Amino acid sequence: MKIDRGSIGRLQRFPSVDLESYHDFLTGFRQWMSADYGRAATARAEKLLADFEMPDHRAPPPDAMIATLESNPLVGSFVRTWMNCQQMAHKSLHDEFQSNANFYREGLKAADSAGPGLLELDPGLDIPDYARHEIHTQPGGYVGEEFAGQIYYYSTMSFYRGRNDQNELYTAMARSVPLPAYGKVERILDIGCGIGQLTVAMKEVFPEATVWGLDVGAPMLRYAHKQAVEWGIDVNYTQRLAEDTRFEDESFDIVTAYILFHEVPQKVTPSILKEVLRVLKPGGIFFIRDFQTNRKHAPFGKYMSWKDHTLNEEPWSQEFINSDFVGTLKEAGFTLLEGGESQPFLRDYICQKPVG
Ligand SMILES: C[S@@+](CC[C@H](N)C(=O)[O-])C[C@H]1O[C@@H](n2cnc3c(N)ncnc32)[C@H](O)[C@@H]1O
Repeated sequence: MKIDRGSIGRLQRFPSVDLESYHDFLTGFRQWMSADYGRAATARAEKLLADFEMPDHRAPPPDAMIATLESNPLVGSFVRTWMNCQQMAHKSLHDEFQSNANFYREGLKAADSAGPGLLELDPGLDIPDYARHEIHTQPGGYVGEEFAGQIYYYSTMSFYRGRNDQNELYTAMARSVPLPAYGKVERILDIGCGIGQLTVAMKEVFPEATVWGLDVGAPMLRYAHKQAVEWGIDVNYTQRLAEDTRFEDESFDIVTAYILFHEVPQKVTPSILKEVLRVLKPGGIFFIRDFQTNRKHAPFGKYMSWKDHTLNEEPWSQEFINSDFVGTLKEAGFTLLEGGESQPFLRDYICQKPVG
């Protein structure tokens, strides 16, 4: 028989001690990868690549460069274990949720119609093919696996290496979102909200505002809503497309998008930007945090980003990285406010809808 092992503050405990210790190992391993192991592998890789002529930064790394890196025991094992962590996390979580499906299904069902906030699902939504792919090796991706929300939550726990156990990365991000030109925030929309970590953080930072999280993936939204219900946070979730939100014109003061744009094809991006411009009030803020674009990577960074695209199933990331996102935002009609590097490979794009 399954039991709910409860939570420690915002941290949902793993469903079993076995899984908890397995993921604790992954978290520790990932901490080591981001520290000594990663530094040693990067230094070795840079030495190995010293004599390589770098191709145009938009081109894939040449085969000879890949072979040189991957035949080196230190660099090769670093890349393999990075992927192994992803696969181990997802396989173990998928097994747990699928083999106890009834228990988890009942948990989601019980929360679906509970409050304080709303959950609007649209079983008839025409989900575009580009949003159906498997992502980061997560089985079924965001829309094709009933427990995608739970899997994403527990898998990102070790990905964030213990730095987000109480949602603190999202709280800090929400606090960094600037106010609209007119200084008031009544309505907020979080597009590509996933399991709602930024959505709830925005509500906590702007408690008087009505906050909506929007995502294409019903499993992500159901888990987001279940968590908000457990925490008594009054946020609403809706299953719609970022390019067709069906909200009224000029009805939001702030729109946020955390790591959405590198996961949509470039041909879709302009329609999302047009939609955000439509629903924002003049002077309203569009806060985006995503990959950096249009810049030359160091050779090993270039290789790792290519591996992320090919091995780690990031189908649209290279299109995004090679684009000029600042230019695309300006072309769409946004004014770019100050925004800088926020994490090693992410940056903020802080946009305002022009007044008049
Ligand atoms: C990398 S996840 C980020 C989720 C969340 N913002 C977070 O903080 O983790 C990207 C999310 O965007 C959603 N998504 C992708 N394309 C979308 C679209 N066109 N409209 C709405 N949601 C979309 C996916 O379902 C997924 O939940």
